[in-house]
Amino acid sequence: MLTLRIGFVCLVALLAAGCGQRQVSFKQDVFPILQKNCSVCHAPGGPGYIASGFSVMSYQDVMRGTRYGRVIIPGSSISSTLVRLIQHRANPLINMPKNFQLVYNKHEEYIHAESNARRLPSTDIKLIKEWINQGAKDN
Ligand code: HEC
Repeated sequence: MLTLRIGFVCLVALLAAGCGQRQVSFKQDVFPILQKNCSVCHAPGGPGYIASGFSVMSYQDVMRGTRYGRVIIPGSSISSTLVRLIQHRANPLINMPKNFQLVYNKHEEYIHAESNARRLPSTDIKLIKEWINQGAKDN
């Protein structure tokens, strides 16, 4: 009976907090990925920054997004523009802003022109998605 109770408590905790799922850290996990793969273009003076205003140089910059708006929606990786871009696929089921496909194609073009190595490994994409789904905290 006691074990059953403990099992139930853990199940509730699991559902509520994602018990057992590791908290992804911005500083230790996400920031280094952005620095390594995006900062050549998304820092003041870089082509990505000049075109969109998006900088990856600090947590505040990342959360501010482009000069047109946010690219990260805390809690929802699926509606975050940044995730759609790095996943290299636009989900047709999601209602995209009209100009999204245009930006997306242009982004692919830029990244390919530089080097294929800039395509993020799926493990990196997974970390970024988890971090956003966990609330995109400054942790
Ligand atoms: C080789 C240069 C380059 C690299 C590397 C690069 N970007 Fe970009 N990025 C651009 C350019 C240029 C634009 C502007 C495209 C436009 O608006 O036409 C852009 C735009 C963006 C936008 C704004 C999209 C929008 O809706 O306006 C986001 C978000 C973004 N990049 C994220 C990233 C992330 C994350 C990385 C790293 C994984 C990255 N970029 C790597 C060049 C780059």
